[in-house]
Amino acid sequence: MRQKLLYEGAEQLEYEIRNIVKKAEQIEKLGQTIYWENIGDPIQKNASLPKWIKDIITGLVQEDKSYGYCHSKGILETRQFLAKQTNELSGIQITEDDILFFNGLGDAISKLYQFIHPSSRIIGPSPAYATHSSAEAAHANAGPLTYKLDPDNDWNPDFEDLYNQVKYNSNIIGILIINPDNPTGMVYPKESLEKIVALAGEFNLMIISDEIYNRVTYHNTKAYALAEVINDIPGIALKGISKELPWPGARCGWMEFYNRESDQEFSRLCHTLEDVKMTEVCATTLPQKAIPLIWSDPRYPMYREERNLAIGRRGKIIAEHLKDVTEIKFNETFGAFYNTIVFKDGSLKSNQFLSSDQPEINTLLNQWTDNEMALDKRFTYYLLAATGVCVVPLSSFHSDLLGFRVTLLEEDEDLLNTIFGKIKSALISYCRSV
Ligand SMILES: Cc1ncc(COP(=O)(O)O)c(C=O)c1O
Repeated sequence: MRQKLLYEGAEQLEYEIRNIVKKAEQIEKLGQTIYWENIGDPIQKNASLPKWIKDIITGLVQEDKSYGYCHSKGILETRQFLAKQTNELSGIQITEDDILFFNGLGDAISKLYQFIHPSSRIIGPSPAYATHSSAEAAHANAGPLTYKLDPDNDWNPDFEDLYNQVKYNSNIIGILIINPDNPTGMVYPKESLEKIVALAGEFNLMIISDEIYNRVTYHNTKAYALAEVINDIPGIALKGISKELPWPGARCGWMEFYNRESDQEFSRLCHTLEDVKMTEVCATTLPQKAIPLIWSDPRYPMYREERNLAIGRRGKIIAEHLKDVTEIKFNETFGAFYNTIVFKDGSLKSNQFLSSDQPEINTLLNQWTDNEMALDKRFTYYLLAATGVCVVPLSSFHSDLLGFRVTLLEEDEDLLNTIFGKIKSALISYCRSV
């Protein structure tokens, strides 16, 4: 090329969660069964939507209007329905004009950071969910800016760390929360949200709240929405149907703007995002038509309750397997469908090993691993090669901690027991191999 093709921040977009899949596919070809514990897609883990939901969607498929473009901000009736739901929380009051649809929340997230000034930064939680941290880092052409979630305090935010970073870095213009959190499964207590709102008030910041798992909670836990606590602070709630319906293939997510007229710069950001969507015409129509029909159905709360109970039960099964392994820190989860397991200091070394029964897989493993790589990534490669269990290393979540993320999605509880039995013995054998 005569000129540079890529802009400097492009490398920040690497998505590690998918990289391990390439390794897993290589050994799958050699006959190894793979247990996909790496990705948060309930459908891939055999979740099935109930017939009544499929009937609603089938009905919509028969309507010609489902095949057309819709309003560039999203279908009016759906936005009215969603605004009413938010208003019923008795916090911030919005209208349909404060809602903007995208092709999946991933699309919304990348657009959001794209239009923020490169020197203005949003600080987000670490371990960090890559869709946010990579897009935010790419916009700033720098590494991600994060505050710590503390595994020694049930993954609650380290407020001293957050406060000091906000106070001493005047480039920070916003705080991101992911509630319930991916990858830790932590649900922000209401007091934590109130503290974040107070902090935003003190330093004139906006709040971004990713609430895609808002109704995925268990063990009698409620995830408070930003709408319930935000008062007069500018904020954007990010919502979608990929996880709770679950219908990730619909590619349907939306933003809700709170207090958009309270700050001139924030108001311009909201307008810009609307203009951008207009240049693309609109977001996917069919799922937008389905949302009010499904969510207002009296069967929906019961359906969600059943699914949440099942996720909570799986969380307990995983805890039974892993909570007493002495080399790790294990925290129970309360929302979303992930658990992040952290190795205690000194548990991982660069000469520990596991082996596969298949020599070809061991040969591949030798090619994949070296003494320079992050120790948790090294563990996940050995785990994959020896057992077929595919998990994501925590170092891929922009974290200084070493560990890995598993999911609570396996529908077949016998298989779930098998997988976590394998993880437990692999953890013990690997950590005690030298
Ligand atoms: C916290 C969080 N936000 C957003 C997304 C993206 O969701 P979507 O499928 O709507 O793009 C995910 C997907 O895993 C997620 O975990």
